[in-house]
Amino acid sequence: MATTEPRTSSELQTLAKRHLWMHFSRMGAYADGAEIPIIVKGQGCHVWDEHGNKYFDGLSALFCVNIGHGRHDVAQAGADQAKELGFFTTWSYAHPRAIELAARIAHLAPGDLNRVFFTSGGGESVESAIKLVRQFHKLTGKPNKTKLIARQTAYHGTTLGALAATGITNLRQPFEPFMPGGCHVPNTNLYRLPAGQGVETLAESIRERIEFEGPDTVAAVILEPVQNAGGCFTPPHGYFQRVREICDEHDVLLISDEVICSWGRLGEYFGAQRYDYQPDIITTAKGLTSSYAPMGAVIASDRLMEPFLEGTNSFAHGFTWGGHPMCAAVAMANLDVMEEEHILENVRTHEHDFRSMLESLRDIPIVGDVRGAGYFQAIELVKDRETKEHFSKAESESLLRGFLSGELYRRGLICRADDRGDPVIQLSPPLIAGPEEFAEIESVLRPVLEEASRRMQVAC
Ligand SMILES: Cc1ncc(COP(=O)(O)O)c(C=O)c1O
Repeated sequence: MATTEPRTSSELQTLAKRHLWMHFSRMGAYADGAEIPIIVKGQGCHVWDEHGNKYFDGLSALFCVNIGHGRHDVAQAGADQAKELGFFTTWSYAHPRAIELAARIAHLAPGDLNRVFFTSGGGESVESAIKLVRQFHKLTGKPNKTKLIARQTAYHGTTLGALAATGITNLRQPFEPFMPGGCHVPNTNLYRLPAGQGVETLAESIRERIEFEGPDTVAAVILEPVQNAGGCFTPPHGYFQRVREICDEHDVLLISDEVICSWGRLGEYFGAQRYDYQPDIITTAKGLTSSYAPMGAVIASDRLMEPFLEGTNSFAHGFTWGGHPMCAAVAMANLDVMEEEHILENVRTHEHDFRSMLESLRDIPIVGDVRGAGYFQAIELVKDRETKEHFSKAESESLLRGFLSGELYRRGLICRADDRGDPVIQLSPPLIAGPEEFAEIESVLRPVLEEASRRMQVAC
């Protein structure tokens, strides 16, 4: 069907149900007449659905729209670029926007991360980083270094290589077998640290795993600065410094997966800057363009690049659209907005207000933990606050899918009610938000969590 005519909302529903395969969605849930939420417009921190209902976008459209919705100037930068050069590939050629953007990213990135390999999104960035570390070790005479250490419950994307790093059983099992060599260690869930275990054991578990696998077989460790899946697990003090030492001792590369944690989400351009560590590679996407165009990047150190500069060597990898000129122009305009409108400063100034608002919800019986950093925060929901007792799978399903997701949306708040670990509500508003917007979030979140608490107390 090819038409550009405007449609009524019911037509859109019918067409969506018949033809659109939504990602990670239980499509069967819409068979009985339930409506697909169709978002038609965005401005600042808000979006509107097809019926004209207004929502606070407390998730920045999946950690993406860092500068907020509706920036015509940023979109215009892509359109202007199209008039000059709509597309040319970076396979064997270069063009000005990709060059300028690579230089700008290298300038902002920590240390000697001076080489930028563009992709079309986060999964492609992680996939590229995995292939990069493997080929790097082969070129430097260590062909057996192929394994990748990641953390339990972490999400690093869905391509078969990235999936070997993703530590979420439900997302892995349907697709096995996939790339060999992915292994997992405990994450930094400080709320549920096993009794008697100190936080220092978390970094040591990486050392133990490297030694168990055999250092000569381990290519890299991949970690997010703040782990998304499971609910915004922050690193304990000194964690990344110790991980860096361990990696150096065993000639293992450190990949900082910052698909979410870069471009101001934690108040710095990169999460590694917030926690003061130097990775060998940063993977990024989402906020690079504030998702006004699809683009990702792998940012690699000079050392990583060295063997690829020798003789006839090349990185045997690429994507047609890597460095797409329109996307690169949009990214440049997005970074202009971040600089000129002091977006990172806004996060630093108001992070505390955001966190205080969430902390104030701790009087609600099912609020077990509040954690996160910057504009990337989570609330873990528990059955019993004193004992930290978990909800069962069935209770979690009825709490999140049976009530919270729908009710928060119905009352005008888009956020993430997630159970890839224990049930959590995640909030990650556009980085332009401030106290007024936090009050708006609270005005929905508090009554809905209170109602959820009452319901769960009755049910238990
Ligand atoms: C840390 C991390 N890595 C990789 C990805 C995959 O990114 P994409 O969905 O753009 O492929 C995500 C997506 O949310 C992510 O959060």
